[in-house]
Amino acid sequence: MSNLNEESLPENEKFYGDAKQFWEEMPSTVDGMLGGYEEVSPTDLNESKTFLRSLIKIGKSKGQTGRVRALDCGAGNGRITKRLLLPLFKNVDMVELEQKFLDTAKTFIGAEVGRVEKFICSGLQDFSPDPCHYDLIWCQWVVCHLTDDHLIAFLKRCQTGLAPNGIIVMKENVSISDKTEFDSNDSSFLRTEEHYVDIINKAGLTIVKQQRQKKWRKDLFAMVMIAVK
Ligand SMILES: C[S@@+](CC[C@H](N)C(=O)[O-])C[C@H]1O[C@@H](n2cnc3c(N)ncnc32)[C@H](O)[C@@H]1O
Repeated sequence: MSNLNEESLPENEKFYGDAKQFWEEMPSTVDGMLGGYEEVSPTDLNESKTFLRSLIKIGKSKGQTGRVRALDCGAGNGRITKRLLLPLFKNVDMVELEQKFLDTAKTFIGAEVGRVEKFICSGLQDFSPDPCHYDLIWCQWVVCHLTDDHLIAFLKRCQTGLAPNGIIVMKENVSISDKTEFDSNDSSFLRTEEHYVDIINKAGLTIVKQQRQKKWRKDLFAMVMIAVK
């Protein structure tokens, strides 16, 4: 990709097509979702839980995020839906590019799967949430697969999909160098944290909380959690 904002169709087709091919070949396991690093899943989920609990309505105080409906974006085999979202929210919807991951999720999630209302097979670049619907829209290790223009447009659509006091969280790897890099292996962008902030500003959203994953392996990319509304 010569230009992250290039809307040229052939270039976008290759960008999204290469990512689709990469994920089509990946097994529907937690290890597959995490690129061979299954053992980091509990550490990832624990810090996500702490981050999220600080944002959602635990008591009855007004003005905090509700706990009725969450959307898991780029949900994969349901790792996050099962261990992070279903324990905190009454209902969860999943949106995911690969149908085979959604099919696995139906068994992987287990006893609580009945509280997953929708299994939506779609790329986020083509997806619009229902208006005023979600208390939380969680996007992890997936918006790296959208071009800047598509991510800005997606964030705007997500904003209209939020219930009152709803929030969107992006949890993504970030580059420690001062520039965004393109990874041709899985056709994704390793953006800098500043680049994400710039995208959020361009989408007209406000940052509610921004925090790096603290406990994390030194040989893995740094990760940031950014909550916006
Ligand atoms: C690294 S895995 C992360 C899965 C899950 N978020 C997790 O943390 O366990 C990336 C997921 O994003 C999905 N994906 C890739 N490109 C996508 C797109 N454009 N729209 C929606 N999902 C996409 C892949 O199929 C894969 O399931």
